[in-house]
Amino acid sequence: MNTLEYIKKHKKRFLDELFELLKQPSISANPKYKNDVFKTAELVKNNLDQIGIDNTKLYPTKGYPIVYGEKIIDSNLPTILIYGHYDVQPPDPIELWESDPFNPEIRDEKIYARGACDDKGQFFMHVKAVEIMINTNELPCNVKFMIEGEEEVGSENLEQFVKDHKNLLSADVILISDTGILSNENPSITTGLRGLSYVEVEVTGPNRDLHSGLYGGAVANPINILCKMIASLHDKNNKITIPGFYDNVEKISQEERNIMAKAPFNLDEYKNELNISDIYGEEGFSTMERNSIRPTLDVNGIWGGYIEEGAKTVIASKAYAKISMRLVPQQKSENITQLFQKHFEAIAPSGVTVKITPHHGGEAYVAPTNDKGYLAASQAMKDTFGKTPIPVRTGGSIPIVALFEKELGLKSILMGFGLDSDAIHSPNEHYGLFNFFKGIETIPLFFKYFAKK
Ligand code: BES
Ligand code: MN
Ligand code: MN
Repeated sequence: MNTLEYIKKHKKRFLDELFELLKQPSISANPKYKNDVFKTAELVKNNLDQIGIDNTKLYPTKGYPIVYGEKIIDSNLPTILIYGHYDVQPPDPIELWESDPFNPEIRDEKIYARGACDDKGQFFMHVKAVEIMINTNELPCNVKFMIEGEEEVGSENLEQFVKDHKNLLSADVILISDTGILSNENPSITTGLRGLSYVEVEVTGPNRDLHSGLYGGAVANPINILCKMIASLHDKNNKITIPGFYDNVEKISQEERNIMAKAPFNLDEYKNELNISDIYGEEGFSTMERNSIRPTLDVNGIWGGYIEEGAKTVIASKAYAKISMRLVPQQKSENITQLFQKHFEAIAPSGVTVKITPHHGGEAYVAPTNDKGYLAASQAMKDTFGKTPIPVRTGGSIPIVALFEKELGLKSILMGFGLDSDAIHSPNEHYGLFNFFKGIETIPLFFKYFAKK
């Protein structure tokens, strides 16, 4: 039996097994779901056991366990290490979902559920692809699995695990499906990820909430001030105003920019899909550049004061915001966080105090397009999509990928199958059946080409 015949025969079971995973609310950010996250780890381990993976184990961490397993057929053959994550983002705002985020449903040839694309649906393609290779006697090299449960909260404990288990994780390449392609007609391979600095800020004015009539106009309103401070972080050209922010940003040659500009991109479709009448961003760069090779600063959440129904006349004592900065190669997350902190303190007017709490961060990543791993992925996708994939840098982050390179000396191949329109982290996240099965079909070919001498 070949891969396609195997997929056809076991299609329904593959989906049933995936649905079982998708039913688990493995929300790593919310301690309320602790038991569910642990249960999901068990389930992933069972999935590996079921297909005949050896030495499967849940490696405990200070947080959620790392699921490990391996199939070593010959120590002289190359080893592919598969990484993925079984945790998911919170489903909020829940009222915007058309179906229960943890009761997967197929509509319109797409699987709707939190984690359908990011990343349960994607790492599970690897489990099924390896099942196929084992059962069709076509596993051409060794394989290891490392599926973690804290990616969506910064992979904080994976770092220590990697440092402590360099032997266990020894491999020739890391293969990851946790990114996307340009479109089903235009396959692509992700060759870059942005880094991340994430901070929470708190602005405090008076020691208590005040009547906005009795005190309004006479004291600094923390919410007004916070908005002003945030607004000042970009200038009229949408450049970030933090001193030193761009110091290490790599200059991309016109030649590389020309290559990037050749990637298919339709501005009208882009605007239509988001229902916006215009785009917005840093002067001097295209949309594709703005969301991949340029660093950014965005408020992710802002709150304070009275937000319930009706009007309450009040000046709140405190205002808050969560701010993310996407970074590009050579910018150091720790350094950028410090620059932010220094600047944000410096621009606070004397009537308020600010407190800045750094959250998780991570470094950017770039991959070569001429090594064995890239070429294997390219050939595999060419076979299944009928078109050579183009290299594309994405704006998203998988901070652990730079760390894999640093600690294990391994490059990661980012062969994801999602679409930007899959609504990851958003209500109604989904993953196309086409993409799920295309991934399962493509992965064994990556193995085949990578294992070739
Ligand atoms: N899978 C995503 C990253 C991604 C998605 C990259 C699509 C490229 C295309 C990952 O799970 C993710 O959400 N990462 C976070 C960072 C993390 C530290 C919370 C992100 O990018 O916001
Ligand atoms: Mn992910
Ligand atoms: Mn994610």
